[in-house]
Amino acid sequence: MPENSMEKLNIVTCTAPVNIAVIKYWGKRNEELILPINSSLSVTLHQDQLKTTTSVATSRSFQEDRIWLNGKEEDISHPRLQSCLREIRRLARKRRNNVDPGLDSTGLSHKVHICSVNNFPTAAGLASSAAGFACLVYTLARVFGVEGELSVIARQGSGSACRSMYGGFVQWIMGQQSDGKDSLAQQVEPETHWPELRILVLVASAERKHVGSTSGMQTSVQTSCLLKHRAESVVPGRMEKMNDAVRRRDFTAFAELTMKDSNQFHATCLDTYPPIFYLNSVSHQVIHLVHRYNQHYGETRVAYTFDAGPNAVIFTLQQHVPEFFQAVQHFFPPENNGGQFVKGLPVKHATLSEELKQAIGLEPMPKGIRYVISTKAGPGPCVVEDDTQHLLGSDGLPKNKV
Ligand code: DP6
Repeated sequence: MPENSMEKLNIVTCTAPVNIAVIKYWGKRNEELILPINSSLSVTLHQDQLKTTTSVATSRSFQEDRIWLNGKEEDISHPRLQSCLREIRRLARKRRNNVDPGLDSTGLSHKVHICSVNNFPTAAGLASSAAGFACLVYTLARVFGVEGELSVIARQGSGSACRSMYGGFVQWIMGQQSDGKDSLAQQVEPETHWPELRILVLVASAERKHVGSTSGMQTSVQTSCLLKHRAESVVPGRMEKMNDAVRRRDFTAFAELTMKDSNQFHATCLDTYPPIFYLNSVSHQVIHLVHRYNQHYGETRVAYTFDAGPNAVIFTLQQHVPEFFQAVQHFFPPENNGGQFVKGLPVKHATLSEELKQAIGLEPMPKGIRYVISTKAGPGPCVVEDDTQHLLGSDGLPKNKV
């Protein structure tokens, strides 16, 4: 049957957030199931600033499973996509057989069309695979009427994606079992827990990262003895301390653990053979800026963390945002192209004292940072109720193609 012959579509659209790890995941003990060598903990970022939107449609008239990412058709046979599709369909079948044998099963044999877009540049080091796979799994589950522990499925798309299945502060428990059933995400605290916490993403480069996290961590597991030490002897203690710092809203403890863990992750990259460099000169300058800023005040007011790329993610409290943002703007004078240097939550104006500028004492790096995304912790995936927002038309094809 031709695809445009108007068989009824079953269509659902959802959104999912990006998350940023403050205790990093780096290294797998099982590549296929994506089982990590250590637990990790992250903050879910607000979807008003960073999100993936995914529509999934099923129809009797679809000939095959298809996927479009940011307007371009991609290969659906990608093993990680296939894992997610297979696991959701398996759960749907199980539910039909065990829970509700009378359930209408027709949709189960139907093919799916998937269309997904990000509201931020893909592969800019902004964890797009995490939001992408979380959104895919969440939306597929809605379409097929599947409930239950979905983070174990999102994990099989991309490890960090399991943490994007919840809002607020989230831990990914590494688990012990070889089948991975106990390697799942749990919410530590909801997004409302720490309303003063603010996040600034300093976008240093929108270029694709040189070494992807999947292959990077593979080489690290094979060659870095520092990584082994980190996973076995450092992370377990830090997970406890970080859980505690979050629960108590202890910014100093939270910030120090966050910076130390980012630094240790990048140290394991350097200990990888051949070494992996994710930080660049802009990243190094941000690190100096943060430490000198904190030193000037004699307290830890700001923290940085970096993933597999040069962008810094800054954590601070609301009251320090205006001044610290001014410091960023002063030491990284932006391109004067009329574009906005800060996007997202508005940042109030502040003046930098000469004393503070001198105390920081860095040579400004013009155009080192393209722009800053100002955001906070936010909720987990949600369903978009407005039918006009579907990314797929009534013919089951993307409304916007490139
Ligand atoms: C540095 O989740 O992208 O961002 O499981 O191979 O898809 P795969 O890797 P991915 O790795 C993320 C690594 C990190 C740290 C983190 O998010 O915990």
